[in-house]
Amino acid sequence: MTDTMTSDDFRREAHQLVDWIADYIEGGARDYPVLSQSRPGEIAAALPKQIPEYGESAEKIREDFHRVIMPGITHWNHPGFMAYFGISSSAPAILGEMLSAALNVNGMLWRTCPSATELELLVLDWMRKALRLSDSFFGFLCDTASISSLLALAAAREKKVPEVRQSGLSGRTDLPRLRVYASDQAHSSVAKACLTLGIGLDGFRTIDHDSEYRMDPQALQRAIDEDRRAGFLPMAVVATVGTTTTTSVDPVPEISEICTREGLWLHVDAAYAGSAAMAPEFGWCLDGCENADSLVFNPHKWLFVPIDASAFYIRDRELLRKTFSLVPEYLKTPMEGEVIDLMDYGVQLGRRFRALKLWWTLRSFGLEGIRKVHRRQIAMAQDFAAWVDDNPLLERTAPTPFSVVCFRAAREGLAGEALDRYNLELMEKINASGDIYLSHSRLDDGLTLRVAIGNIGTKEEDIQRCRDLILENL
Ligand SMILES: Cc1ncc(COP(=O)(O)O)c(C=O)c1O
Repeated sequence: MTDTMTSDDFRREAHQLVDWIADYIEGGARDYPVLSQSRPGEIAAALPKQIPEYGESAEKIREDFHRVIMPGITHWNHPGFMAYFGISSSAPAILGEMLSAALNVNGMLWRTCPSATELELLVLDWMRKALRLSDSFFGFLCDTASISSLLALAAAREKKVPEVRQSGLSGRTDLPRLRVYASDQAHSSVAKACLTLGIGLDGFRTIDHDSEYRMDPQALQRAIDEDRRAGFLPMAVVATVGTTTTTSVDPVPEISEICTREGLWLHVDAAYAGSAAMAPEFGWCLDGCENADSLVFNPHKWLFVPIDASAFYIRDRELLRKTFSLVPEYLKTPMEGEVIDLMDYGVQLGRRFRALKLWWTLRSFGLEGIRKVHRRQIAMAQDFAAWVDDNPLLERTAPTPFSVVCFRAAREGLAGEALDRYNLELMEKINASGDIYLSHSRLDDGLTLRVAIGNIGTKEEDIQRCRDLILENL
């Protein structure tokens, strides 16, 4: 079948691996510590320093995978993974991903794989409808929200500084300094987009949050006014629906009014929480987004597909094409103008067939199946939040709109850095258990711990284990 494997060998190995994967996602991940206990350098040290001169057997490679690689895996697909954003790679998505690897298509042009382009556009349209977003949005897949937001701000820059595509920004005396705004709770990818696009970190201005960690629109307006007086050229606002630490939702309707009045691009970063809007009772989180210029949400965060898959929507498709399209002779096709070539809408040329795993997943779950998981996870988080509220040794550090609970241990006589240290130590003790993995962040009152419920396999017993570990280690 190939130079190294007969088709019989492949079948045998693949069946074994599929059996192993089925056990793993069925709950077998619980047999491993959720947080890898390997020490820095240990994995690399256990492996040869160069490519073997002669090919090795699948069996030997598989053995090394279990012996050397598995101990260095932090199990994001473990039901006890409650750090960052808990995520899931579901069985249907794995089937789609397997086929995508087998087909190995590159969807850079429509012609290089019509199904890749057409399925991607279709699936993005399905999700747009499920989120009740306007049909003026054009959507496609990026690898990550960081890249989706970068594309959004590149389009915003193209609109504000039309000749930027040709002349760039450097060395120009005809241009005021550009400004991009986001709340101080926005993800660092917004600042990274600014530094990538030549706006610089100095061109990125953070806006204060209110008592619930949402952007304060009045502070935004003040910042814009102040910047205009100081000679800056305000360009775009990034509103977050589901901030990274607390999952707070910025007041998009008010922010959008300001953007319209001020002529600013509005990009909505709904990387985590966007998917929740598929349930009508959480639709509120996308209120105001009908007026956004662009929006991102990540199926790889809360739509049960393996990383990577980020859904990017933009209203002015032609502007994005103008921002990025550059077609050398070898990429020209006879159907130019008749089809959408996705290479025209971003930086990269080669494109994975990501839509296949998403299509497989959306069809397998159906909208009701997706809502059911979200509702279950949000309910578990709300119960956990109520448990924290009832415990005098703990305190909640932020509201809990979705499935992430921010809390910390409170200890009489401890404050400031000492309290932060106490909570970090508590977290490390919990993480050392191998059953539960939590992460931390910083809020107004200091360090906060987070319980992020997002794995499909997480059950009440895992939440109970988390509660027990907290109490045992206080
Ligand atoms: C609100 C928000 N935006 C963007 C990102 C970056 O996502 P990605 O890893 O897909 O770039 C994150 C990551 O957690 C996030 O929480």
